[in-house]
Amino acid sequence: MDYQKFLDDQAAELRRTVGGGLAINALSGGVDSSVVTALGHRALGGQLKTIFVDNDLMREGEPAYVHRIFSDMGIPIEVIDARREFLATLAGKTDPEEKRCAITETFYKTVFGRVVRESGARFLLHGTILTDIEETVAGIKRQHNILAQLGIDPQQAYGYQVLEPLKTLRKDGVREVARLLGLPTEITRRIPFPGPALATRIVGEVTPERLATVRAATAIVEEELADTGAFQYLAVLLNDRATGIRDGKREFGQIIVVRSIESSDARTAAVTELPWATLHRLSERITRIPGINRCLYDLTPKPPATVEYV
Ligand code: XMP
Repeated sequence: MDYQKFLDDQAAELRRTVGGGLAINALSGGVDSSVVTALGHRALGGQLKTIFVDNDLMREGEPAYVHRIFSDMGIPIEVIDARREFLATLAGKTDPEEKRCAITETFYKTVFGRVVRESGARFLLHGTILTDIEETVAGIKRQHNILAQLGIDPQQAYGYQVLEPLKTLRKDGVREVARLLGLPTEITRRIPFPGPALATRIVGEVTPERLATVRAATAIVEEELADTGAFQYLAVLLNDRATGIRDGKREFGQIIVVRSIESSDARTAAVTELPWATLHRLSERITRIPGINRCLYDLTPKPPATVEYV
């Protein structure tokens, strides 16, 4: 595929569709939304407003990190504090699809709806890729960014039109386009991270305490596995507890699962054969997080498992 031509065509198409209007997009810091941000700014310049929604579901230091990377590229990002709204909507919810649905609604209707109304934007640029569409249509998982394919008309439901310039690409194609757009390698090589963020890695209820736990474990996993070249690695907080011993006393503690996979596009995945010393270090560091007394390594390929747990 000629990715330069793809880029030029998509930029021209965006200019044609948006015309003299205003478009808006949400950056998550993942490769897909970063590419949409850079592509959108190349095509639309000041007619694109990029926001970063701080939903409290992000990795450690993420809002500041993303803001810095894009400021360095001359792309202004507005950080919107929606932490309270997301935590409120997730409170008490344990069903995976209900959690995803609540995040979609809060993201697109409450937060975006508000920003769109206030800014007068008529278009929303979104980093949907082909794999997201296929899996949603196949009914495997409701990716939170798929609306039209689920029969939801965003114009009618939320008051804006969604544009998805990457919807014919898979992850490898997105990385090619990212390179052509001059995105820094720390972004283009970044491992995939899902839109609903750490909520996909908390089995059961999402609470501020449980978020803090999975965030701490995620930071350890990302640090320890950064040089492995694995496609994606993550930490998951289970909803079970297990008996353990700490400081000579019985503790009914929480359980973190480490997952690391090899894949080219996340449609199928094999488990990374991590060295024993790495697994050992992960377990040692993760069980130092308060309340965690077990660390497991997930040995399941995709299928039958998916990458995320929720
Ligand atoms: P699953 O868990 O479906 O994940 O095997 C496949 C890939 O997609 C990512 N993922 C998502 N990305 N929105 C996204 O932007 C989502 O709702 C979502 N759910 C999963 C996941 O991290 C993996 O790379």
